[in-house]
Amino acid sequence: MTTQTLQKAAPDIRSAVRERYGNLAEQHQPGSQADCGCSSTQSSCCSPSDDLLQLETVARIYDDPAAFDLPADVTELSLGCGDPVTLAALEAGQTVLDLGSGGGIDCFLAAKKVGPAGKVIGVDMTPAMLERARANKAKLGADNVEFRLGEIENLPVADATVDVIISNCVINLSPDKPQVLRETFRVLRPGGKLAVSDIVTDGPLPQEIKTSLSAWAGCIAGALDVQDFKAVIEAAGFVDVEMKAEYWGKEMADEAIQQLGLSDTLIENKYVFDKTIFSAKITARKPE
Ligand SMILES: C[S@@+](CC[C@H](N)C(=O)[O-])C[C@H]1O[C@@H](n2cnc3c(N)ncnc32)[C@H](O)[C@@H]1O
Repeated sequence: MTTQTLQKAAPDIRSAVRERYGNLAEQHQPGSQADCGCSSTQSSCCSPSDDLLQLETVARIYDDPAAFDLPADVTELSLGCGDPVTLAALEAGQTVLDLGSGGGIDCFLAAKKVGPAGKVIGVDMTPAMLERARANKAKLGADNVEFRLGEIENLPVADATVDVIISNCVINLSPDKPQVLRETFRVLRPGGKLAVSDIVTDGPLPQEIKTSLSAWAGCIAGALDVQDFKAVIEAAGFVDVEMKAEYWGKEMADEAIQQLGLSDTLIENKYVFDKTIFSAKITARKPE
């Protein structure tokens, strides 16, 4: 399937993504193990952890010790693949936008960094996920955080009003990445920063993965090749684009394939998944 074919299937992709994350938000009740349909006990990005592995998952992803202070209701619904808040090096008083905020973990971490003089806006297209994020906000008393329902391809945010945009394992899910980058450019102030953790590829993925809606919703099939992602960011007008790879371990890569229900052949053949797909730290700047 070519990128062009996938663009045509955009409504299907959006439905599959919304369904997956809506189910996760509804099924993963606070303090309980998610009924994610997976046989394994290990978690990977875009899949929730159970109670016992929650701290291990947060430790693997986050550099910021503040992540350990968040309640389980927040950390259990952590579905990211990196720590964009640390990457962003936020300052007090800044306005931050989180693309695809999920249960809100990065919004709450960012809120601590920007303090009461700053503001954090989380945007997510899945109503059940937004409900969980708003309940978490109330529980934490995070007055400087606001969650908005919306699509990252059409942000419910005014032009040039945001200092820093963060995102954690979400842009890969979009069927129209150039539009996402145009929108981020529109809402950032001149000189504003983009700090993203996301899944990217280095080389082609097998056809079975590229054509699987489940693999798209699981943050794999929609991942852009590293050079293509860089080109899309630059085409939107950003400068100083940097991408640093953080390779998955083989165990985690195999786990992701298993969780997605793809054929055993991929695993049996020891396809070098862990060298083709990885998490990246991506930064860029809107010119002054
Ligand atoms: C893999 S989860 C990551 C959530 C969160 N960033 C985290 O680290 O826990 C992806 C989230 O992005 C949202 N999402 C996916 N595509 C989106 C889009 N096009 N517009 C808005 N939200 C989207 C989903 O509803 C889901 O909550």
